[in-house]
Amino acid sequence: MSPLSTTRPASAGGHSLTDQLGRPLRDLRLSVTDRCNLRCTYCMPGEVFGPDFAFLPRAELLSFEELERLSRVFVGLGVNKLRLTGGEPLLRKGLPELIARLTAIDGVQDIAMTTNGLLLPRLAADLKAAGLKRVTVSLDSLDPEVFGRMNGLGVHPDKVLDGIEAALTAGLGVKINTVVQRGVNDATLGVLWDALKDRAVLRFIEFMDVGNHNGWNLDAVVPPREVLAQLGGGFRPIQAHYRGEVAARHVDEQGHEAGLITSVTAPFCGDCTRARLSAVGVLYTCLFAGGGLDLRAPLREGASDAQLSKLLARTWRARRDRYSEERGELTAQQAGPKVEMSHIGG
Ligand code: GTP
Ligand code: 5AD
Ligand code: SF4
Ligand code: SF4
Repeated sequence: MSPLSTTRPASAGGHSLTDQLGRPLRDLRLSVTDRCNLRCTYCMPGEVFGPDFAFLPRAELLSFEELERLSRVFVGLGVNKLRLTGGEPLLRKGLPELIARLTAIDGVQDIAMTTNGLLLPRLAADLKAAGLKRVTVSLDSLDPEVFGRMNGLGVHPDKVLDGIEAALTAGLGVKINTVVQRGVNDATLGVLWDALKDRAVLRFIEFMDVGNHNGWNLDAVVPPREVLAQLGGGFRPIQAHYRGEVAARHVDEQGHEAGLITSVTAPFCGDCTRARLSAVGVLYTCLFAGGGLDLRAPLREGASDAQLSKLLARTWRARRDRYSEERGELTAQQAGPKVEMSHIGG
């Protein structure tokens, strides 16, 4: 047992903590930077996140010590799964050290990372050695022109494929996340599937109205039936790995797995057990929230673990978020401004 675990709050395990809709707290997604080396049009469009964009200064970011400490408190309340996100998490210097710290926390059963893969050739082996089990790599198309346009910088898909290979070689599990947009990359999904289905689990994400700048419209959302048809058909649904899994799993006749993430056409708020912490330590209880709870201030003002735990528990107990289920009923104005994806990492 680690020496710090004695500072866990009395409610350690915390399995009785549920929100207003009866949902427990299980997953914590930690954003470690708001910067990215791509400019995907649906996430950080170059017109908004240009050369003059003011990213967060280093001192504003939670340190590794602070991230570890908060993670322990979350684990004391029931979290058993951590995911590192960004922006692009691998831009944060020394990331393997953070992985090692988080892996050592009693009660963490799974630790993963969402990345665009570009820095994996350099870092995969160190990440694995530090205790990372798996990565989820974002890759929207193998067509150089389509992918170059979607990533905003003309980066070639081979760069991401090199990252995927490096992860596999290092022994990391690999999933691939593909955001699908009608008329942009939907016609290229079959090629992506055929090239990668033997190497990884592929997941297809409906284009979402996250953030405030991505020009979302419902017409660009491709429903699951059409995605599966693009992959060649012949799929059957299979059981989720765990309650609240966001991807609806399907397999083709040879057993290759495709996951469909249908947050627009079939929202999954009823099972949402996810909390998100921005790089500056603001806790968001929904991907589409307009604001959150600042944990950095109490942390830096000397709050004890018990005090932090109380604050978190109070926030989670009060939680009523179900944005994706309510989306249809809200006008854009009612919905109000939302947190940017690059602040909480999807
Ligand atoms: P596994 O642990 O591998 O099951 O991963 P995961 O599906 O929990 O996490 P991942 O980050 O890979 O999720 C894929 C994408 O689904 C995210 O990038 C988001 O775009 C979307 N997504 C994840 N969680 C939520 C959520 O709570 N709400 C909504 N609306 N979308 C989500
Ligand atoms: N819609 C759907 N998925 C998105 N992502 C980023 N922005 C959007 C959006 N508007 C996904 C990325 C990546 C993860 C960080 O979130 O593809 O997999
Ligand atoms: Fe960067 Fe990922 Fe956003 Fe693309 S989706 S701009 S890779 S954080
Ligand atoms: Fe959870 Fe909010 Fe996504 Fe619903 S919209 S699944 S509440 S993060």
